[in-house]
Amino acid sequence: MQILDGKALAKKIEQEVTDEVNRLKEVCGCTPGLAVVLVGQDPASAAYVAMKKKACDRVGFYSITHDMPEKISQEAIEKTIMMLNNDTNVDGILIQLPLPAHIDTTKLLELVTPEKDVDGFHPFNVGRLTTGLDGFVPCTPLGVMELLAEYNIDVKGKNCCVVGASNIVGKPMASLLLNADATVEICHIFTDDLKKHTLNADIILVGVGVINLIKEDMVKDGAIIIDIGINRADNGKLVGDVDFENVSKKCSYITPVPGGVGPMTISMLLSNTLKAAKLNAKKIKESK
Ligand code: GUN
Repeated sequence: MQILDGKALAKKIEQEVTDEVNRLKEVCGCTPGLAVVLVGQDPASAAYVAMKKKACDRVGFYSITHDMPEKISQEAIEKTIMMLNNDTNVDGILIQLPLPAHIDTTKLLELVTPEKDVDGFHPFNVGRLTTGLDGFVPCTPLGVMELLAEYNIDVKGKNCCVVGASNIVGKPMASLLLNADATVEICHIFTDDLKKHTLNADIILVGVGVINLIKEDMVKDGAIIIDIGINRADNGKLVGDVDFENVSKKCSYITPVPGGVGPMTISMLLSNTLKAAKLNAKKIKESK
């Protein structure tokens, strides 16, 4: 069994992004910028946003967090997003999810200009992903694909079982795998007999937020296990959705939690923001 070391790969990608940022600063005097919209007091969201900000600082991006109170109106957030759409210092806009119940999340995600949609959540970019066109791809599934590529794992023709059908992880994960010629099954909360599906899989990719959902009797010998879950166990430790101790004895590769997919998500946010900055710099140059 081999560990898929997301932490190490993320570090390598961060260095590449840093080098590219320095080059951009020299060549065109531009600094990639990321704006984050954070609404309310959810501690997990605040922690994720703090990690994203720190990563931006490490690679030399400009970053700004719009910290908004829980009871803020839809209109006030919309105004902020429109302002960020027009701000030339901002290349990427990220609305941290989930938002409070009174907010229309879909409407906000659709308001972000697709060129700054570094989370890949705008229907324009979702459509480009499902049709196999270039665009912005959600960071977590993109990070999984990078991690597989780093270990020369080709998904072509492989049976992949994606467990979880969210817009953030499961659905884009399935699209990326399909675009890479995998055979893809998507299982979810209403799937009857999950084990029947996972047992058939060469690669299991799970991100639903249920501790120990994937147990050793659900995994075939030599399978590849990608754990996208992040949960806080009773003892305070971070754990994924896979029973790591027992499943790791049976599989060929597995991602740990922490240190697997999590760091890759952050590094893909950095590379998506860099990509947006380059596109925006090119557009500004062409318009001159
Ligand atoms: N909430 C949980 N994951 C994510 C993510 O990747 N992006 C955003 N914006 N919010 C999230």
